[in-house]
Amino acid sequence: MLNSVSQAAEADFEALGARGCAFLGSKLPILAGAMSWVSERNLVSAMSNAGGFGVIACGAMPPELLAKEIAATQALTDKPFGVNLITMHPKLDELVQVCLTAKVGHIVLAGGIPPGPAVRAVKDGGAKLIAFAPALVLAKRFIKSGVDALIIEGSEAGGHIGPVSLTVLAQEILPHISEVPVFVAGGLGRGEAILGYLEMGAAGAQLGTRFAASVESIAHANFKNAFVRANARDALPSIQLDERFPVIPVRGLVNAGTKKFLAHQAEVVQKFQSGALDKTAAQLEIEHFWAGALRRAVIDGDVETGSVMAGQSVGMVTEIQPVAEILAELKAQAVAALVARGNHA
Ligand SMILES: Cc1cc2nc3c(=O)[nH]c(=O)nc-3n(C[C@H](O)[C@H](O)[C@H](O)COP(=O)(O)O)c2cc1C
Repeated sequence: MLNSVSQAAEADFEALGARGCAFLGSKLPILAGAMSWVSERNLVSAMSNAGGFGVIACGAMPPELLAKEIAATQALTDKPFGVNLITMHPKLDELVQVCLTAKVGHIVLAGGIPPGPAVRAVKDGGAKLIAFAPALVLAKRFIKSGVDALIIEGSEAGGHIGPVSLTVLAQEILPHISEVPVFVAGGLGRGEAILGYLEMGAAGAQLGTRFAASVESIAHANFKNAFVRANARDALPSIQLDERFPVIPVRGLVNAGTKKFLAHQAEVVQKFQSGALDKTAAQLEIEHFWAGALRRAVIDGDVETGSVMAGQSVGMVTEIQPVAEILAELKAQAVAALVARGNHA
């Protein structure tokens, strides 16, 4: 009896995730969002092999390196995975060709409005195109331009963030978009929450933080242990000191580096005011502060001065677990929530 109850709940969960799974070619409608330095062959293949969907983070990689990373990932999994390209990469068109040549089925364009030529190249090459939609009007525009699926990422997420929470973005966008699958991201750490968004009409969910701290993630032990120790309130957006010098908000764990960044901005503003630096030079000096800082944290384990990008979901990282275990846990939580409603007796 109990067994048939949970089987029925499982079937309901599968039905809710069917559109997302069909789009991704996965068993679960869950993506491990691309994370620069973290989302490479090991995590991506582990994710896809475990029934989820891994995404390589191209970041600033040149085309030759991306080609190698894709080939190495394909050697570790025969399941589908995606590649995330940053739109302002100077060699975006070449990177798209690298993905198409390697027969990557899903390309995610992140970091701004997907440029027309890249959109056309992806579509002509037969890959599925996924874009981030920060607002409903843009979501509609992207669909018109040929985007095959959307991700809506709330400000709870780790890394570069927009100003609006997933709670609000989901309400603004999900009821109005049915043409393409929409995946939700930001602050998700448990299956009950994923279930809730599937019921609101999402096709699936993208998580980053929980997978960054997985066994298969190549992130340094210091980086993963910082995630285990941290609470949601420790993952804060970077602070802009002066309105004349914009700072792109990045959510990460507060550390000596984030505090030093404030002092650095104050120094640069001082130099600008005294005429020692012009505006452009001052802005560049502020931006250069974080150059190489994510690599320092992820690869070298410098969690004191490096950039420890993490979402508010970091509070739900309580141990370093294998990817398959995280996925099984998320699914079990969603199914248990369905069982608890008692509709399956
Ligand atoms: C360490 C780290 C690095 C990230 N780097 C990228 C990136 O290079 N490109 C991107 O589109 N998103 C990036 N993200 C965002 C993730 O893909 C994902 O959308 C986000 O982590 C989801 O929110 P969560 O962290 O609360 O799970 C990064 C996130 C983290 C934690």
